[in-house]
Amino acid sequence: MLIDRQARIIEKKSWGNYYLFRIESPEIAGRAEPGQFLMIKVSNHLPPLLRRPISLHNAENGAVEIFFQVAGTGTRLLAEKEVGSTMDLLGPLGRGFTVEQKLKGQEVFCVGGGRGIAPLYFLARKLKKTGAKPVVFYGGRTKEDLPLTNKLKELGLEVMVSTDDGSAGFSGLVTALVGETLATRSPAFLYACGPEAMMENLAQLCQRKNLPAEFSLESIMGCGFGACFGCVRKIKRNGQPSYLKICQEGPVFGLEEIVWQEKENG
Ligand SMILES: Cc1cc2nc3c(=O)[nH]c(=O)nc-3n(C[C@H](O)[C@H](O)[C@H](O)COP(=O)(O)OP(=O)(O)OC[C@H]3O[C@@H](n4cnc5c(N)ncnc54)[C@H](O)[C@@H]3O)c2cc1C
Ligand code: FES
Repeated sequence: MLIDRQARIIEKKSWGNYYLFRIESPEIAGRAEPGQFLMIKVSNHLPPLLRRPISLHNAENGAVEIFFQVAGTGTRLLAEKEVGSTMDLLGPLGRGFTVEQKLKGQEVFCVGGGRGIAPLYFLARKLKKTGAKPVVFYGGRTKEDLPLTNKLKELGLEVMVSTDDGSAGFSGLVTALVGETLATRSPAFLYACGPEAMMENLAQLCQRKNLPAEFSLESIMGCGFGACFGCVRKIKRNGQPSYLKICQEGPVFGLEEIVWQEKENG
């Protein structure tokens, strides 16, 4: 069942280009799962015509949270909204991450690049409740790209950060930090969300280590619920390539299912 509601912003935080909203929406919060997303109407005027897809960053106590980076017109209009104003939310949409009971007691890696950390906070909370031991890898270009580090640590998680310029944590790409850590630790599962190149690199590491994994893919989305075919992408289902709607069948897919775009184009 799709829920389409006007919802009120009850808290707003910002760090440079990044924003976090807490939004009152008991119906959506009560049904939300990590890895699912919302389609948000960013303006009551045209343009932009289309809603924008944003992950559920958290759902707790009758409210949902979103964490986003300004990327263009739509997200800039969203960022201009203030506490007390309302916006139209459609969701929760899509298929989220799989959290199995068998992960109880096991270490699992959650890898987020930049704004890709958004759904992993909600996921790490659920993993912790299940009894798994999530280790969060949080990568950015500079330390300014890691505004959620303390929030993640406050959950009592082990958090490893990396920056491309060495301004915080490990100096280099988050994939290199994960690769280095995999040399000494053997997690039971890896979850990731971030730029496609980062996830493709992680997929190669997982294949080499025989490590099961899930990745949250991005796509341009017109509707978010299967009506427009705007998000179709080649995915291997049961070993067979087929064209699936990312918004309905994903955005989360298993390691063996994804046909990486570079391989597709190259
Ligand atoms: C399932 C899903 C979950 C997402 N979750 C988050 C999140 O939690 N936080 C966050 O910061 N961002 C998230 N995004 C990305 C976010 O949707 C885009 O940054 C946003 O739609 C850009 O809109 P814009 O009008 O600001 O930028 P535009 O000016 O429209 O474009 C800027 C860039 O964003 C891309 N883009 C434009 N429209 C879309 C669209 N509908 N879907 C995807 N990419 C688009 C364009 O190709 C371009 O590269 C998510 C995307 C998807 C598909
Ligand atoms: S966004 Fe319309 S079908 Fe997926």
